[in-house]
Amino acid sequence: MFDVSLGTTCHSTRVSIIGSGNVGATLAQRIAEKDLADVVLLDVLDGRPQGIALDLMEARGIEGHDRHITGTNRYADTAGSEVIVITAGLPRKPGMTREDLIQTNANIVVQVTQKALEYSPQAVLVVVTNPLDVMTYLAWKVSGLLPQRVMGMAGILDSARLQTFIALELGVSTADVNAMVLGSHGDLMVPLPRYSTVNGIPIVEMLDGETIDRLVERTRNGGAEIVELMQTGGAYYAPASSAYVMVEAILLNQHRLLPIASYLQGEYGLHDLFLGVPSWLGCGGIEAILELKLTDAERKALNRSAESVSHNIQTAYSLLGWAA
Ligand code: NAI
Ligand code: 2OP
Repeated sequence: MFDVSLGTTCHSTRVSIIGSGNVGATLAQRIAEKDLADVVLLDVLDGRPQGIALDLMEARGIEGHDRHITGTNRYADTAGSEVIVITAGLPRKPGMTREDLIQTNANIVVQVTQKALEYSPQAVLVVVTNPLDVMTYLAWKVSGLLPQRVMGMAGILDSARLQTFIALELGVSTADVNAMVLGSHGDLMVPLPRYSTVNGIPIVEMLDGETIDRLVERTRNGGAEIVELMQTGGAYYAPASSAYVMVEAILLNQHRLLPIASYLQGEYGLHDLFLGVPSWLGCGGIEAILELKLTDAERKALNRSAESVSHNIQTAYSLLGWAA
């Protein structure tokens, strides 16, 4: 036998996903099967994360990877994670808005963030739980992390939905379409047709105003459309793919420019909230924020979006019994 202990430190990259429901489990599958990192899946439900992890492990030979997937109820098993993704919390039921989830999910997000950060104080934190922009703010507040190490996933999903609807409308490959959606993850999101293109050609030159309005409206309603169809739970394949993009950009230090709920400190004239804006993402988290030139109408829409997020943060504070 060779002595491999001398001077060798074997270290696998580890991502912990807190909440092993539909989004968490699907994200774990994406991360492992794309051979990006080992995954720890944690949930309050005893047996669920363990069962999903074993199921994913048993697919390794077929999928052709050796990533380790651990299912657990103990935060100690998440220790040393480079990235922590928070997907714990309730999804919407038909007829509910994301804001209806504030009370329940605020308690969950605060609690799980504190516990996870205790074991991975250097992690980058990606929040998925709804209402997204509010939960990201609360997670940051209790994380003790610099704001650039905390972010929310929503803009990639909303942009992917608009991208899909544009591609279907025009009958072009989705690969040729780029779409951009800013603002909060909710009815007040701000899709930007002017910055949405087909191979560089603005869609405003290819589609009439009425058609664009219809695609924008379907994007705003994208989450609810799926909740109405499924009746139990919400979307999770596209959300998991979107969260994967962020985890990959962090672990591979890709410096990607993506719509991310980032902490604003004066950008777009907005302060002290997380809101979807184009952000550079690398291994340290958010590296910079791009300030797009907006028309008056777009800026007004972004301000309305920000006002509603700030209002919901205040609601969450009072529900949590926190001082403003
Ligand atoms: P789900 O109900 O399938 O899974 C949630 C999981 O969280 C469950 O397994 C539950 O046991 C677990 N959980 C609850 N309390 C916990 C705690 N204290 N500690 C650990 N785990 C806990 O829901 P799904 O579909 O996976 O969605 C998760 C969240 O993500 C929801 O709030 C949903 O609205 C949100 N979401 C956000 C999206 C976005 O674009 N930001 C997109 C899709 C979903
Ligand atoms: C979505 O947009 C529920 O926020 C989730 O699908």
